[in-house]
Amino acid sequence: MTDLPGRIGILTGGGDCPGLNAVLRAVTKDAIFNGIEVVGIEDGFLGLIENRARPLGYQDVSDILTVGGTILGTSNRADPRRFEVGRDADGQPIFEDVTARALAHASERGLEALVVIGGDGTLACARPFFEHGLNCIGVPKTIDNDIYGTEISFGFLTAVQVATEALDRVHTTADSHGRVMVVEVMGRNAGWIALHAGIAGGADVILIPEIPFDIDRVCEKIERRRRRGKRSTVICVAEGARSRGGVRVVRERDAGSPDPVKLGGIAAWVAERVEERAGVQARHVVLGHVQRGGTPVAGDRVLATQFGDRAIELIKAGERNRMVALQQGRVTHIDISEPAGRQRTVPPDHPLIAAARSVYTSFGDE
Ligand code: F6P
Repeated sequence: MTDLPGRIGILTGGGDCPGLNAVLRAVTKDAIFNGIEVVGIEDGFLGLIENRARPLGYQDVSDILTVGGTILGTSNRADPRRFEVGRDADGQPIFEDVTARALAHASERGLEALVVIGGDGTLACARPFFEHGLNCIGVPKTIDNDIYGTEISFGFLTAVQVATEALDRVHTTADSHGRVMVVEVMGRNAGWIALHAGIAGGADVILIPEIPFDIDRVCEKIERRRRRGKRSTVICVAEGARSRGGVRVVRERDAGSPDPVKLGGIAAWVAERVEERAGVQARHVVLGHVQRGGTPVAGDRVLATQFGDRAIELIKAGERNRMVALQQGRVTHIDISEPAGRQRTVPPDHPLIAAARSVYTSFGDE
């Protein structure tokens, strides 16, 4: 056995998601059990830049398994290599590399390893730290399920559950009024949430970024259903979906964020066109951040606990700069830099797409 570190840091970065606290609990309890002190960095890498952190003890992480969000806080605007230090006369952000400052804070606090809980952006922010010798162990989180190298990230199952419940609910309104209901779910450039929730929630049409749709095909599907006596149609659309030859609909741009393009608005676009072309009433709902909030479902609690445990096992085994991952149903680990610049999107030949088509779900492409 290699020498165990005396003290490690832990942070949660990027957008919050259900299960973050479950990982904090697992890592902290496991570390304490092994005689390792844990320092909780506040607000992701921002806490390292601004030197804000606090010790985490057993009591701090007790009873947080079921609590949504993160007790440490998070930030998705704190890349130490490109940190916004002000605005110029035109209101444009001024960036500076503050890695040295953040590294000095980690060293002053005696951190011998850092557990980084985050998505691809946060994991990429860890690079300068491990390049300067601080062992970083990544734990993949995101509701989008788009992190390269892991079959699943915690948070995803809860988002799918929330979206499924929303689809279940709009079915009744759609049926009562004979309407088309369009439900927009998150997922950035990946259609995983839409695909899973769409199947679970019995959506008649699922629109995902990986399969550009033709709005006329969507209207034909609505018409075919009407001919078969179905008054309503439920459409589940991923925020990153786009029509053939069209572009993604952008809600806003945040120049100071490492992930500056904020998607949103495609459901309204689809509903408007459906009303025009199919001549039926259409309404849209954007689920937004509701999918990221609240208590994690059982599957996310289990996954988060497994991932947290494995992070400490890796540190104990002397492994360096790894990311915990799930591959072929087993918890394993990969190089922490592997997911950088890559996204795990839905392969067009994914078996779930075939399964959805086999129950007459349309993807708006044929
Ligand atoms: O990555 C998680 C996610 O919720 C995406 O699904 C969504 O596009 C984005 O974050 C929203 O970001 P923000 O919380 O910054 O608006």
